[in-house]
Amino acid sequence: MSPSTSQVSNTRVLIAKIPEGVAPNNTHFETVTQVEDVPVLKENEIFVKNIIFSMEPYIRLDDFTETTRQSRVVGYAIAKVLESKNQAFPVGSTVFSSSEWGQYSHIHLPQYLKDVTRIDEIIDPSLPISVYNGVLGVGGFTSWDSLEKIGNLKAGETIYISSAAGTLGQLAGQLSKRKGLRVIGSAGTDAKVQFLLNDLGFDAAFNYKTQDKRQALTEAVGPAGLDIYYDLIGDVTVEIALDLMNPHGRVLAVGLLAWHQNARPHVPTNMINILYKQLRYEGYTVFDRHEFFPQFLQEIGPLVADGSIKYTDTVVEAGVEALGETYVDLLGGKYTGKVSVQIAEF
Ligand SMILES: NC(=O)c1ccc[n+]([C@@H]2O[C@H](COP(=O)([O-])OP(=O)(O)OC[C@H]3O[C@@H](n4cnc5c(N)ncnc54)[C@H](OP(=O)(O)O)[C@@H]3O)[C@@H](O)[C@H]2O)c1
Repeated sequence: MSPSTSQVSNTRVLIAKIPEGVAPNNTHFETVTQVEDVPVLKENEIFVKNIIFSMEPYIRLDDFTETTRQSRVVGYAIAKVLESKNQAFPVGSTVFSSSEWGQYSHIHLPQYLKDVTRIDEIIDPSLPISVYNGVLGVGGFTSWDSLEKIGNLKAGETIYISSAAGTLGQLAGQLSKRKGLRVIGSAGTDAKVQFLLNDLGFDAAFNYKTQDKRQALTEAVGPAGLDIYYDLIGDVTVEIALDLMNPHGRVLAVGLLAWHQNARPHVPTNMINILYKQLRYEGYTVFDRHEFFPQFLQEIGPLVADGSIKYTDTVVEAGVEALGETYVDLLGGKYTGKVSVQIAEF
């Protein structure tokens, strides 16, 4: 697009229908290309060209109604600012933002504008840009911040992390090891289990799809008992964790992977453990924690750059139309850790 043109051809991926009672699949997405006017910006607004989308298990839908039968999807992306009415994000700057799944996005709603972060000055050129979607992006920040804010980690304790080979799980495990905890993880393939044990230094790990979860977790926890369950899935596993908990243990409710696959969130039937063992069951959301992001980058950035913190990172180089399929594959377990879709040159 040249600055003088007032229209762009914009390919978007929309939700064609809401998955009801089934995991999302390719039929739920639709690719649409149309010529659109470049918006006339109001104060604080920006218009961006999206470069590389972060695939998040959780996606936000804008305006899906019975009348439209379609919805725009909002996900995280690294983008270049093409037009700006916001001094913090001048034309040409690189931002991390909540962007609609498409080539261009008009960022105007206050809830999305407040999330925009300028990243030109914080990018470490020795690292691939995709790390700012993953271990140094919202996922990594969520792991670090949730453990700091509600984890109260103590050396010698035992933590169990579900979806441990995912973006949050990988960092949560390594941060817990660095604080001297005994770390147990679960994942859905033997290769991921081996990765947790051999590459990330987990003390124990099991395949939740092929092993009996209660037996595997009970054996991994052993006589020491469980102190923390870092719950990324929100399914029945929490009941096993509650049974294995030591007095004053904590359940950190951070993710809902089972729900993203359209399973109903599980309500534990053994909540009585909370009373008898004086447990804490606490939720966390990243949405109001933006102000702590610089501190996170300062602390974790150098550890990622010097290899002390490990991560896996896949970049799918493709057109916008790959977003839906990659999202489906992410939920299905195809990737280990962060997957990004790069739709334009950086
Ligand atoms: N609270 C917050 O503010 C916040 C912020 C960011 C992310 N989150 C949430 O944290 C969770 C983890 O995020 P992430 O980015 O690190 O994703 P992730 O763990 O990389 O998610 C993808 C993986 O989830 C696993 N999975 C899918 N369905 C599952 C199920 N029913 N049971 C167990 N594992 C399942 C698959 O691995 P396997 O091969 O192991 O099955 C897949 O590879 C998500 O729910 C995300 O929305 C919360």
